[in-house]
Amino acid sequence: MADEKVSRRDFLLYAMGAWAAVGVGGVLYAMYKTWEPLPEVKAQATVSFDLSTVEPGQIKVVSWRGKPVFVLRRTPDMVQCPDRSVKGEYTVVLGICTHLGCIPNWEADKKIWHCPCHGGEYDACGKNIFGPPPRPLDVPPFKIEGTTIVLGEEGNEYKQMKEKGLTV
Ligand code: FES
Repeated sequence: MADEKVSRRDFLLYAMGAWAAVGVGGVLYAMYKTWEPLPEVKAQATVSFDLSTVEPGQIKVVSWRGKPVFVLRRTPDMVQCPDRSVKGEYTVVLGICTHLGCIPNWEADKKIWHCPCHGGEYDACGKNIFGPPPRPLDVPPFKIEGTTIVLGEEGNEYKQMKEKGLTV
């Protein structure tokens, strides 16, 4: 009789434990679903762009997370920056001035970006060379897949730049 009471007590404890576990699991799942980004937000997080569509000397602007990203295919007469290049010949930088956030213009004749707000200048590698900008144009996170660059994902090339402090 005493054994039977103990086993009923055990059963009730197990049942309550299982019920509590299901409840906690349900709460955690609901929290996860609430915090998970919406599919449309995830889709905007990365942008793919085929670098081979940029001619030597040409610059293209790619929109990533609502920001302009400059993709410049440098020519041999432009300043070179092997450590801060993508595939050796492309400059890929956020088109936002590091002074106060204006959008610099590419001046093809001088081969520089010129910021219209306070006259800041950046060379063809995105390095600040004149005026108030405190640092080079930022390099956005990227990953290389063949000739395609995926903006928004950190690939090995970006990680190496980041370790050397060259992305900002
Ligand atoms: S915002 Fe570009 S130089 Fe001031």
